[in-house]
Amino acid sequence: MKIALLCRNANLYSHKRIVEAAEARGHQIDVIDHLRCYIDIASSDPEVHYRGESLKGYDVVIPRIGASVTFFGTAVLRQFEMMGVYPANESVAISRSRDKLRSMQLLARQGIGLPVTIFAHKTSDAAEVLKLAGGAPVVIKLLEGTQGIGVVLGETTKAAESIIQAFGGVNTNILVQQFVKEANGEDIRCLVVGERVVAAMIRRGKEGDFRSNLHRGGTAEAIKITPKERATALKAANAMGLNICGVDLLRSNAGPVVMEVNSSPGLEGGAADGRPQAGLPTGGHPHRRRRTGDGRSALERPVQTYTHDAACACGARAA
Ligand SMILES: Nc1ncnc2c1ncn2[C@@H]1O[C@H](COP(=O)(O)OP(=O)(O)O)[C@@H](O)[C@H]1O
Ligand SMILES: [Mg+2]
Repeated sequence: MKIALLCRNANLYSHKRIVEAAEARGHQIDVIDHLRCYIDIASSDPEVHYRGESLKGYDVVIPRIGASVTFFGTAVLRQFEMMGVYPANESVAISRSRDKLRSMQLLARQGIGLPVTIFAHKTSDAAEVLKLAGGAPVVIKLLEGTQGIGVVLGETTKAAESIIQAFGGVNTNILVQQFVKEANGEDIRCLVVGERVVAAMIRRGKEGDFRSNLHRGGTAEAIKITPKERATALKAANAMGLNICGVDLLRSNAGPVVMEVNSSPGLEGGAADGRPQAGLPTGGHPHRRRRTGDGRSALERPVQTYTHDAACACGARAA
């Protein structure tokens, strides 16, 4: 197969591993910086241009679009979709997952466990929002934050109110969320490929930080998850329409709750010793039913097979 890997930085660990896994299976894979693409929309024959050439003949596109460039990145991906190239994740599913509020609404509709979450804009009534979220301590989040930036703990009523007011002052959308204290600064990242959780890791925040993001100095370790956690992760991936994603769960007293679903999960972390794991299946995963049937499902299985290999090659133990 001829594969396009859409990403900004070919040297990132995860991208290198995807390239290695695809090449190991005999595919041609080209790394394409989507910000350097331009798209020809008006033409009856839709095209993506890159470095003076028209990109042709791709069977599959693997999008690894950074949160800061979602708008342009998903437009380029959509163009590939218009050209009939099979996307490992669809552009619409990526857009969906990038908006925390939209994601939570979709997950809630499927009856998936979530922390109590209140959505507010420029609120003059911080006290009422806080009350609805169950009172301090609460977690306050920017709607489109990522890597733990824009996630703040309001430990006391006074602190939480000031944070809500401060965000209100800069005219931004926020979520106010029940603080799941019993999670102890840990969360679980489940790597979903197709209909399976192929790896899971527990991430721990650095000393004194309730945020477990690896980008914030957290550490990660492979973990065996419970059947309930696995079922929740799969249901969340399905609700978002993502074939390949990282589902982040918190272990709350009421069971697993989903915090977010990431459409470009990092493949590092876990027992990342770079050793391909023996004994893991390398194919035959049933493919996900796509939200929009377009008769291209025959390609889904191979895509998931090597993505699964890439995930496994990162060293995380199969869950
Ligand atoms: N409601 C919550 N209760 C406890 N910890 C939380 C809560 N929300 C987020 N966290 C912690 O903060 C981290 C970052 O939050 P998250 O919503 O994933 O934002 P980001 O998109 O920036 O990663 C999470 O990985 C988790 O460790
Ligand atoms: Mg997160």
